[in-house]
Amino acid sequence: MPELMCCIVGLLLPAIVLSHDSSYRLPNALKPLHYDLRILTHLNAPLNLSFEGSVKIDLQVLQSTRDITLHAKNLTIDEARITLSSRSGSRSHSISRIERNETLEFYTMRLDGELQIHEQYVLSMPFSAALNANDVGYYSSSFRDPKTNQTHYLAATQFSPTFARLAFPCFDEPHLRASFQVTLGYHKNYTGLSNTPVSKCVDHGRLQDYVWCQHEPLLSTSTYLVAYAVHNLSSLPVVHSETQNNVSFRSWMPPDAVKDGTFTAKLAPRVLSYLEKLLEFAFPLRKVDQLALPSHKFSAMENWGLVTFKQTRFVHYDDELMQDKEDKAFTVAHEYGHQWFGNLVAINWWNDLWLKEGPSTYFANLALDALMPEWGSLQRRVANDLATFFCKDMFNDTIAISRDVQDSKSILDQFTPHVYEKGSLTMRMLHKLLGDEAFLMGTRNYLRRHAYDSVRQSDLWQAMQEAAHLKGSGGIRLSTVMDSWTLQKGYPLLTVIRNYSSSTVWVDQARFMLGADGGEPTCWWVPLTFVNQRQGNFDETQPQFWLECPSAGKTLRLLKNPAPNEWIMLNPQVNSIYRVNYDEPNWRMIIKTLNSADYGSIHSLNRAQLLDDLLMLAASRVQSYDLAFSMLEYLPREADFLPWNRAVALLKDRGQLLRGEQERIFRTFMKKLMTPLFLRTPQLNSAQLRAKSGSLAALYRLAYKEACRYGVAHCISQVERLRQDDGNGSQVPANYRDIVDCTSIELDNSMLFQSILKRFRDTDSDAKRSVWASALGCSRDFVQLQPFLDYLIQATDKLTYNYYMQAVTSALERKHLATEIADHIMQHAKAINTKLSLKQIQILLNRIIGDLITELEDNQLRQQLRGLDKFEAQLQAALDRRDTNRYWLIERAEHFIKALSKYA
Ligand SMILES: *[C@@H]1O[C@H](CO)[C@@H](O)[C@H](O)[C@H]1NC(C)=O
Ligand SMILES: *[C@@H]1O[C@H](CO)[C@@H](O)[C@H](O)[C@H]1NC(C)=O
Ligand SMILES: *[C@@H]1O[C@H](CO)[C@@H](O)[C@H](O)[C@H]1NC(C)=O
Ligand SMILES: *[C@@H]1O[C@H](CO)[C@@H](O)[C@H](O)[C@H]1NC(C)=O
Ligand SMILES: *[C@@H]1O[C@H](CO)[C@@H](O)[C@H](O)[C@H]1NC(C)=O
Ligand SMILES: *[C@@H]1O[C@H](CO)[C@@H](O)[C@H](O)[C@H]1NC(C)=O
Ligand SMILES: *[C@@H]1O[C@H](CO)[C@@H](O)[C@H](O)[C@H]1NC(C)=O
Ligand SMILES: *[C@@H]1O[C@H](CO)[C@@H](O)[C@H](O)[C@H]1NC(C)=O
Ligand SMILES: [Zn+2]
Repeated sequence: MPELMCCIVGLLLPAIVLSHDSSYRLPNALKPLHYDLRILTHLNAPLNLSFEGSVKIDLQVLQSTRDITLHAKNLTIDEARITLSSRSGSRSHSISRIERNETLEFYTMRLDGELQIHEQYVLSMPFSAALNANDVGYYSSSFRDPKTNQTHYLAATQFSPTFARLAFPCFDEPHLRASFQVTLGYHKNYTGLSNTPVSKCVDHGRLQDYVWCQHEPLLSTSTYLVAYAVHNLSSLPVVHSETQNNVSFRSWMPPDAVKDGTFTAKLAPRVLSYLEKLLEFAFPLRKVDQLALPSHKFSAMENWGLVTFKQTRFVHYDDELMQDKEDKAFTVAHEYGHQWFGNLVAINWWNDLWLKEGPSTYFANLALDALMPEWGSLQRRVANDLATFFCKDMFNDTIAISRDVQDSKSILDQFTPHVYEKGSLTMRMLHKLLGDEAFLMGTRNYLRRHAYDSVRQSDLWQAMQEAAHLKGSGGIRLSTVMDSWTLQKGYPLLTVIRNYSSSTVWVDQARFMLGADGGEPTCWWVPLTFVNQRQGNFDETQPQFWLECPSAGKTLRLLKNPAPNEWIMLNPQVNSIYRVNYDEPNWRMIIKTLNSADYGSIHSLNRAQLLDDLLMLAASRVQSYDLAFSMLEYLPREADFLPWNRAVALLKDRGQLLRGEQERIFRTFMKKLMTPLFLRTPQLNSAQLRAKSGSLAALYRLAYKEACRYGVAHCISQVERLRQDDGNGSQVPANYRDIVDCTSIELDNSMLFQSILKRFRDTDSDAKRSVWASALGCSRDFVQLQPFLDYLIQATDKLTYNYYMQAVTSALERKHLATEIADHIMQHAKAINTKLSLKQIQILLNRIIGDLITELEDNQLRQQLRGLDKFEAQLQAALDRRDTNRYWLIERAEHFIKALSKYA
């Protein structure tokens, strides 16, 4: 969970052209039942990394047809050797014509006669290809053994979402499940892995020292979950999980990483058995291999029985940030969540991607909370998801999590953090609406009912609805309710106006958007749960009322008769994803409680949300900044990380837009705001600081980071003293070293800049280089920084040019060199376009354009970026962001400054 960057990380595709063209879907005439796959892998000569294979597919004919259409891409298929015969052996067909459609990624065989309905056929196809160089399909990767300095090549698969077709001809859609039998051929010096254990090996015969190893059959599965690898990695000792099937875990990684892979290697079986008990469905396989790979298209991949990770997301070094350890644990837990959500129960089609990513994320949060209670990560993760969701979805360029997708590119684009975060929040909403018992019962029934099959979101709603009925709370049509959240973008702002003499409230909803009215009328089914000040119970999250859709505003008689002098509050624990605006007297009463010793009586997730809501209501003129800042008055006494983190992120997000005198006043305000928190944070070199609790550590980090950034004298002097004492920073706990390095460099320590630069060049550790790249970006001296940036962006290896991103985002956040950095990005736009990802470019554009850093006009920008596809795809959204921010600068900045100057 990185530091919150509100409003920066938006969505990948602002302007999606929804294609309702279903020609990308395979015809329905045939259904694969079983694949027999043989793959021979060549890794010996580095310049000829290739594979040859053959696949035999058992087909069921559902409609008689003369065509066999399946997926194949970048494969050399030996057409002369394709055979087709009926299972009974009574018929055989020859192929009269073959057509490839590169757009659809189809391979179609026209037959000389019709395939008969209900018959089964066996199709056999030989093929070969080079191992893929882009980490998809069956791809090659390599690592260097530091002991022998030898480079070792390896091959592994990444089939999700639509890359199995790069490795073998197949019916590559998630609902077309089939059983698999994988047999791998390779040189004896290597290890071959697949989803299941090896059952037997025989000599290859023709190729000396090669073997063919057959794996046990794999249960019915989607093609994207099939996996295999041929490698020479080292493994940790086998660990057994306490699952019903006594699953054995092996973890593989390059030899120099092995000693640091233990943490995640041991966590995985614990997560698996925790989830198995919770979900009451036995994990069906006997073994799991975890493969930490030097390169990986994503962070990790949940293949049944062969889970793969990017090495840097699996191996944990002692001197990394605590947050990194938590993030790695989370990645592991997420992949094991998929063993039920996605693997056992597949999605019918990629439009419902959230239906596997949402539950895997949510259950990963629950698992880590149970297994690592000292981290307290659940609330922080939920708060983080809420913060990014509320931020992203207040802009017009957001999208619904469930949406139509067809071709490979739009399917891949569906994998945005948004789908994961909002998907997880959607599961949480169900959980809080239904309560523990009904939610778990619904989830278990859903898994049992659809095991080894595929689902749409309506299947989840159905199972939850039935469980709710059994638990006596089924008075609402859950599918209608939930569709309003998953099929629509955005979220509502509820307006609550009390009638203080009659204990009634009037409630209405409208879409909340920053700097614009909600546009076309939309509505949601909103669960309403009120909390009263006196009987404030934030654990009762089940709805007392519903706001229907469509609906006019409605008047409700509150259940617990609040007295006129006590506040009411909606949405305990922010269980549903909406904002609330109250009438002013109610806001004032809430603020009064926050400003009292009793502020803890309001749940910390709600405290964070109240700050968020009120600051955003003020930003969009619905409320005044005076009111918002009177709420912020309580913050210096706040002891919890969540409200602090949220408020600071949102303030900085506005502060980022200010210039000149306004910026100076803002910085003075921030310095003053951070001082009391900083003064109660332990000294950097004290034992107390090495807090075991994740939430306390997060708060301490926030205190140091922001106090030093805004120039709190004690923070700066501590950094200077530690630096003088100890040039290597070894007295500084690992969790704070990045802050100390950045602060020292920002204080114009050019010797330190050079020494960190040297260490950056000398190390092999990706984690360290990425921390150091950020620290170097804190420099105030562009003459010093520029050669480093040039070096990074001119690099040809992916690892190195990716640090460009770290260095420039760190520089842009600090603004000393913002204009120079913006120029650097524009000057190197062409290289950046080829080297960085769409998402990275989006972040950069939102910073330099959205935050009004570059002075280039729209037309100049368009001209300079012409032909650079990734920049062009993101430009309009960044320009819209610029308009929204300009509007705020013109309409609201003065009020903002006026309100905060009272405190500055
Ligand atoms: C690579 O190896 C395969 C299998 O040995 C062989 O068929 C192919 O011709 C080789 N390609 C090159 C370019 O050497
Ligand atoms: C397909 O092969 C071509 C040429 O070998 C290569 O440039 C391209 O990247 C491959 N496609 C994918 C999706 O890897
Ligand atoms: C591939 O299929 C698309 C969609 O049906 C069609 O428009 C296109 O002409 C086809 N291309 C070829 C080479 O047949
Ligand atoms: C290791 O090998 C690389 C190239 O393979 C070479 O550049 C480097 O100098 C070697 N290092 C050592 C210590 O031998
Ligand atoms: C396989 O391993 C043996 C023994 O370690 C070694 O002598 C041989 O060169 C290796 N062969 C290949 C192709 O790597
Ligand atoms: C695999 O690694 C082992 C030891 O780490 C080594 O003996 C063997 O030669 C390696 N094989 C290949 C093909 O690199
Ligand atoms: C699981 O299997 C391993 C080895 O097969 C065995 O040593 C261990 O006792 C088994 N554990 C349980 C709980 O059965
Ligand atoms: C939001 O975007 C849609 C197109 O995606 C556009 O039609 C609409 O006018 C926009 N609304 C606002 C308020 O900008
Ligand atoms: Zn996932």
